[in-house]
Formats: sequence, structure tokens, C-alpha cells
Amino acid sequence: MFLSKEEEKILDGEKGWILERAMRLLTTIGDLNNAERLVPIKRSQVAGVSYKTVGDPTLHLVEELARETVRVRTKATQNPAGMDLKRWREMGVPEGFAEKQLRICRAYEKLGVEALCTCTPYLSGNRPEFGEVVGFSESSAVAFVNSVVGARTNRHGGLDALSAALIGKVPLMGYLLDENRTGDVHVKVCFKPRKETDYSALGYYVGKEIETSEVPVYDGIKDASSDELKLLGAASAASGSVALFHVLGLTPEARNIRRAFGGKKPKYKLEVAREEIRSVYDELSTRENPDLVAIGCPHSSVQELKKIAELISGRKVKRSIKLWVFTSPKVFEEAEKSGYISIIRSAGGDVFLNTCMVVAPIEEIGFRCVYTNSAKAAFYIPRMTKNRCKSGIAPLRTCIEMCTTS
Ligand code: F3S
Repeated sequence: MFLSKEEEKILDGEKGWILERAMRLLTTIGDLNNAERLVPIKRSQVAGVSYKTVGDPTLHLVEELARETVRVRTKATQNPAGMDLKRWREMGVPEGFAEKQLRICRAYEKLGVEALCTCTPYLSGNRPEFGEVVGFSESSAVAFVNSVVGARTNRHGGLDALSAALIGKVPLMGYLLDENRTGDVHVKVCFKPRKETDYSALGYYVGKEIETSEVPVYDGIKDASSDELKLLGAASAASGSVALFHVLGLTPEARNIRRAFGGKKPKYKLEVAREEIRSVYDELSTRENPDLVAIGCPHSSVQELKKIAELISGRKVKRSIKLWVFTSPKVFEEAEKSGYISIIRSAGGDVFLNTCMVVAPIEEIGFRCVYTNSAKAAFYIPRMTKNRCKSGIAPLRTCIEMCTTS
């Protein structure tokens, strides 16, 4: 891989051990993927924040890095933590967990990575432009910015996203290159998605069916909101590893079929009918009654909070169940001004920031069954709780009806 004189100096350790290691990681990844060189970035999203998912090794590593003077060179934001950074006691998060979580977030902040703690940084001021090269980790954010925004990122892990933020560059490879951004699989959508969960189930099904690094092109979706595409992308990145998808006629690099496939023939066709979607609902749903209804995977947008407020208005959350909604601080502020947060809270629900039902220690808090409108969350909850917590998926309206009385 070609390195400039400046990059070579960093690799030789002339700018300190942290940048040397960061550069070593990026050049190793680049070499393994035949990257020609590094290219500059101005934005990063850094995963590896929740104490539940990263534990003590990352806590110690990030604290060690933060003791030095090195800082990130990009606008960089943290992925969700394991709790609401201010209201963790209201969530019932154990003290010992909270202490370590706060240390992780502080250490990242010292490195210059903002403690926004959201998986939707693109709704909170860290939104790239069309064609912009960025270094994002968090699979749902990667899928969204690549596919819906038309920016360019590979699917980074937490450590290489942090390295990229520190160096301000990423290897030129993978989804940064035109030839890897065109469609591989023609997904014929043979049903009309009726609810947001249908998009989520569709993404989940396709993610499971196609091979790693294949780019699906959805054909047959007439209209979908950016929130629905957010759910679709998150689910396909969870059940498979889809980092980029196109929706014919809707997403920026798929205005027509020729553009979507780059003039190539699709490798194969995949038909998805209502039956396949039903199979996803069955696979991801327990028959047990939930003790938590959790919405906001990926973190809720203002429009989603508005919808929840409309659905819950005039209803009351039952005593036997909790309703928790997750979002980012900036979206919260906007929704609060519009009155949506107070409607949700006065109905007995709560809105938490910085975390979600997957990366918070919900099993330690005491929950045993969670219903949600996100296939990604329904997929991960049993896995992330070692089956101490079951999960189910249902449309938002059903979720709200399930946990409230009129
Ligand atoms: Fe975000 Fe948590 Fe879902 S990080 S995408 S809300 S699993």
C-alpha cells in the first residue's frame, strides 16, 4: 500500500505509540484488502462503547489512550452506551456497571469522541453528504449512510473506526470504490409492506439469505420513509452483514435498474412474498407476555416519537409492563419542544437517551421478555442476554396496544 512520507513517519512511531498502532491497524487492513492508499475523512462513528458488550478490556484500553495527549482528527461520535448517562438509576442499572460505563464514555470524550451515544448520528449532527467518505462503525449506521444518504463507508469495527478517527484517514477499499457499490442480488418484493415491521422483517430475511458483501437491490417497494429504510437496513446488517443496499427508484444510487446494477446482470434473483415475512415474525416472536415494550432500534427519529405520542395519547401504560423508548439527545430535544416526550411520559412510558434494549443490561435490571418493532432488537435480545430474556416483534401500533389500556 502506498504511504506518503508523513504516513510513513507515523508508522515508524515518530508521532507516538498510539498513532503508530492506529496506523499499523489501518495499513494492515488496507494491505489485506489490496487498498492502494489511505484517503482522508472528516467524520467517524465509534462503536465499542457499551460496557455490556466490551467489558473491562476496552475500558482499560480507552483509559490508557486517554491518558496521552493524542486526540481524534475527525468529527467523531460514540455509539450507544449501556445506559442513559444521566438517568441510569431510573432504568435500574446496577451501580457497579454504571461506574464503569461512565469511565468508558469519559475516556472516549477525552480522546475527542463526543458522548452523543447514539446509533443514529446522522440524525444528530454527524450526517455525511452524498459521496462523502467516512469511517463509521455500527452496522445499522453503516447501512443507512451508505444506502440512504449515499455516503461511502466500510463496515468498521470499533477499534479500526477509532484508529481512523485518530489518523483522519481510511484505506481506499471495499464500499469506497465505485465497482463495489453496484447491486449483486435482484430482490423482487412480491408483497406490499403495510407496517414498519414489514420492512424490518424484509431486511432480516434478505440479510439471512444472501452472502456476505453482496449488495441487494430491492425492486417493488413503491415508497418507504427514511425511518422504514432505517429499520430495513439495521435488520439486514444484523441477520447478515449487509453494509449497502439499494431500493429501485428510491435510494440515491438506484434511480433506475441500470444504475443500480452498474450495467451488470444480477448474480441471482430472490423473491420475497408475504409468506417469507410471516416466517420472520414467527422466528423472532415468543408467545410469552412481555414485561417490557421497547421501541427505538435504531434510535427513534422525531417522526417516530411523534407517532408513538399519537398512538399513546389517551391511553395508560399497564402496571405490569413498562414502555421504554430510546433516542439520541438531539432528537429528544426537538421532540420535547414539540410536546411528544411529555405525552409519552404522562401516559406512563419513558424515553431514555444514549442506550437501547440490546446494549443495556436489561436482564440484570430484571426483564424477562421484550416486545419491539425492530427485527434487529428481537434477534439480538436473547443472544445478548444469554437467553435470560426472550423477545418478540410486532408493529408499533400493536406494541403500544400491548402495553397500555384505553
Ligand atoms: Fe442501535 Fe441498539 Fe439497535 S445500538 S441499532 S438501538 S441494537
